[in-house]
Amino acid sequence: MSLLDKSLRIAAVAALALMASGLAATARDTVTERLDDRRMFGSGREAFTKTCARCHTGLDSAVGPNLFQKEYDPEVLKYFARHGFGPMPAFTESMIDNATLDELAAYVARQGKGESR
Ligand code: HEC
Repeated sequence: MSLLDKSLRIAAVAALALMASGLAATARDTVTERLDDRRMFGSGREAFTKTCARCHTGLDSAVGPNLFQKEYDPEVLKYFARHGFGPMPAFTESMIDNATLDELAAYVARQGKGESR
């Protein structure tokens, strides 16, 4: 094998290795991005308004109890949200992410204690 052949081969292998690490980095970035951007709502309040309020605001059309009229422990609210209850559907992590659900539960719990926001 000539010296030129050999160095061409080394260059080709190096280029392939670079490409592969570039691809791996891209894949890694995508995964990180997905994990970090899993906030599905701007705030817990927004999530409540969009997912729970239609059934829990005390309107005539609401099928569930008004959640603002009782004092709930945030953990209890999260449990009901994740597991559902009777006619109430369960809300999985793909519907409400954990961080948002924490905020949602804190928001509802504050309302029940008569605090605004
Ligand atoms: C499709 C309507 C519907 C949606 C949407 C809904 N719920 Fe419910 N929920 C109900 C109904 C109906 C009950 C009462 C079930 C029963 O008493 O058998 C209930 C019960 C509850 C209870 C127990 C209340 C009590 O004091 O007994 C909690 C807490 C609760 N829901 C939280 C939530 C949260 C948080 C969300 C949003 C993530 C949510 N619900 C979304 C219908 C709904």
